[in-house]
Amino acid sequence: MTEVSVSRPAHTQQQNLDDPKLRGKGAEAFSRSRYQSTPTTLLSVRAVEKVFGSRDSITHALCGISFDVDAQEFIAIMGPSGSGKTTLLNCISTIDRVTSGHILVNNRDITSLGRRALSKFRRDELGFIFQDSNLIDTLTGFENIALALTLKGIPTKEVTPKVEAIAKTLAVESVLKKYPYQMSGGQKQRVAAARAIVADPTLILADEPTGALDSRSAALLLEILEMMNESLGATILMVTHDAFAASFTTRVIFIKDGAFFSELRRGDATREDFFAQIMEIIAFMGGEIAHDR
Ligand SMILES: Nc1ncnc2c1ncn2[C@@H]1O[C@H](COP(=O)(O)OP(=O)(O)OP(=O)(O)O)[C@@H](O)[C@H]1O
Ligand SMILES: [Mg+2]
Repeated sequence: MTEVSVSRPAHTQQQNLDDPKLRGKGAEAFSRSRYQSTPTTLLSVRAVEKVFGSRDSITHALCGISFDVDAQEFIAIMGPSGSGKTTLLNCISTIDRVTSGHILVNNRDITSLGRRALSKFRRDELGFIFQDSNLIDTLTGFENIALALTLKGIPTKEVTPKVEAIAKTLAVESVLKKYPYQMSGGQKQRVAAARAIVADPTLILADEPTGALDSRSAALLLEILEMMNESLGATILMVTHDAFAASFTTRVIFIKDGAFFSELRRGDATREDFFAQIMEIIAFMGGEIAHDR
């Protein structure tokens, strides 16, 4: 196997990835005093634990995971099935509550927000893209995208130009008058991407957004996400099984058994080279993650 360059955040730098005792134990090296957010840190996940169930059926879905995301990063979260990826995303989106630990968005601890503040946070600061687009069936493409703006209280006269502009950028102008059942899977996901970004959220969360798409539609959606990140400055956190999807991002965070395992930064690598590096880490982890293309 050729050498893979693996970088780790400051709080795990003492770890030796080759030491089997330390694999999957990123969080155990966590220490608050060594863990200072930089001014550009947008998301900070700190020693987050999530336990499901009680007594004899306890699952430790997240075991003290820690990492930071800077503004305008495009991050892929990869890990074997059951490693805690969806649980992590649900905790960041506040759909689920952490058992312990903290999640900071722009230095505000979202794990301690009350019910009203939580719904305001979700509405104003987050955009979502799910595996099955989750568009509202009774609304047209235009209305689905516009909803994100009206919920946020954007004045009516500003809604149409904003929806039309993002629809043009994301190549969904032709389906603005159609209902979801009249759209292809790829078109639905691009409308969902338009809805996620139109209100200019702080963070876009995506769980397997290409999971239900054929390879051509997946590639188009990934190019759109890449463009949303590069040209529109969106910060995106995307869970994926797919090394091809991950190769469009700027950094891949690998998790295993609910803890940080390692990460890869794209740097100046081409997408093809980054894909090869991701595949090597997957092979190193036991090949449990990806269906390669
Ligand atoms: N509501 C729940 N109640 C009990 N256990 C749960 C619950 N949700 C998730 N788990 C468990 O937590 C662990 C992590 O699940 P999670 O869905 O986060 O994994 P994942 O990495 O997203 O997996 P996949 O790649 O298959 O989607 C699993 O062992 C799962 O069975
Ligand atoms: Mg999942």
